[in-house]
Amino acid sequence: MLLIQDLDFQNKTVFLRCDINSPIDPTTLKILDISRLVEVAETINALQNCKLVVASHQGRLGKSDYVSMEQHAPVLSKLINRDVKFVADIFGPTAINEINNLDNGQVLLLDNLRFIAEENTEMLPEHAVNSHLVQRLSSHFDYCILDAFSTSHRSHPSIVGFAELLPACAGKIVEREVNALKTIVHDSQIKFTAILGGAKIPDRLKSIQKLIEAGRIDKALLGGLIGNVFLAATGKVPISSTSVDDEKSIVTAKSLLEKYPDKFLLADDVAIDVDGKRTEKSLSDVSPSDKIFDIGQNTIQKYFQQIEKADNIFITGPLGMFENPEFRFGTTEILNKLSNADSKTITSGGHLSAVLEQLQIKNKIYHVSTAGGALVRYLTGEELPLLRALNNSASKHNL
Ligand code: 3PG
Repeated sequence: MLLIQDLDFQNKTVFLRCDINSPIDPTTLKILDISRLVEVAETINALQNCKLVVASHQGRLGKSDYVSMEQHAPVLSKLINRDVKFVADIFGPTAINEINNLDNGQVLLLDNLRFIAEENTEMLPEHAVNSHLVQRLSSHFDYCILDAFSTSHRSHPSIVGFAELLPACAGKIVEREVNALKTIVHDSQIKFTAILGGAKIPDRLKSIQKLIEAGRIDKALLGGLIGNVFLAATGKVPISSTSVDDEKSIVTAKSLLEKYPDKFLLADDVAIDVDGKRTEKSLSDVSPSDKIFDIGQNTIQKYFQQIEKADNIFITGPLGMFENPEFRFGTTEILNKLSNADSKTITSGGHLSAVLEQLQIKNKIYHVSTAGGALVRYLTGEELPLLRALNNSASKHNL
């Protein structure tokens, strides 16, 4: 895999596929956290003398975070202290005209790649080469830089297509993530205590299954909405209190609990909302009208005991509804504990990275990654499409 320092980008037109997909406030549609933009600024700063075309996806089709990249441009511009021109186009004549008019040192941001149907479809690299995106744009670029580590598990045209035709190298984020994690990933003897929270339920269930099947998890401690799915599966709380309406996920969680009964630790007590205030209850006291928003004190203590025994810990996703200060408690207590633990801890996802930043304990964690699902897949030992594309490109172009 090549790195930025291995290629000469002077006077060249360069396509940078990064991941500045950011949490978006569902009401104002404004960016809530700029961690991924801060990270990619390092890569852009390493590319001063070329014509740079930056592209990313934002959100998922049908979700409230599926918005244009227009507001990302001024944020990026401030971070790199250079103008970032936004074009409300991806591969049409307007975008191509802007690309061809770039001067050295200028940066152009394309619109949300997922506005194109192809970018919502997994495809093999040999098919991605024939996508409209790659066919229309690749002849305008000299090089491709892949820095979307957090999307490296998606075989989308922008991730795997350009690298088939153009010499490609890793950006600074991919370089840093792979360097920090490759030893752990390739040593299949290393097992993790996984602390799993967050709200992307079907993705998370698949990841849990893959991690267990790959033999990488000794214990899985659950919280957040995914924890609620498992609580619903045990039947110990009314399903209405979990806010989970996806029956299929509950069935999957139930079969995982049956198949791997010793792997999971679930909450014994939870925090619910009473008139806007946090109130803790044991599971047997939760009524159908309650809404579970966090893990409780007893559960936190139980999870602490497991943390104290673990050598390697992987945590992804908040353990409660952390946006509300009343229900941030579980997440902050666990992160504080991890920051003082002897274990090697890897944290995954922009939400946890933002909380660590607020708590000012980021530097006490072994590795903080803004990647979510991609990191979980990487830890299973699976070869990720983006990394495969980089390796193939290096050998194909004889670089
Ligand atoms: C993420 O936030 O995990 C990445 O941006 C990938 O997004 P996706 O899960 O919607 O593909």
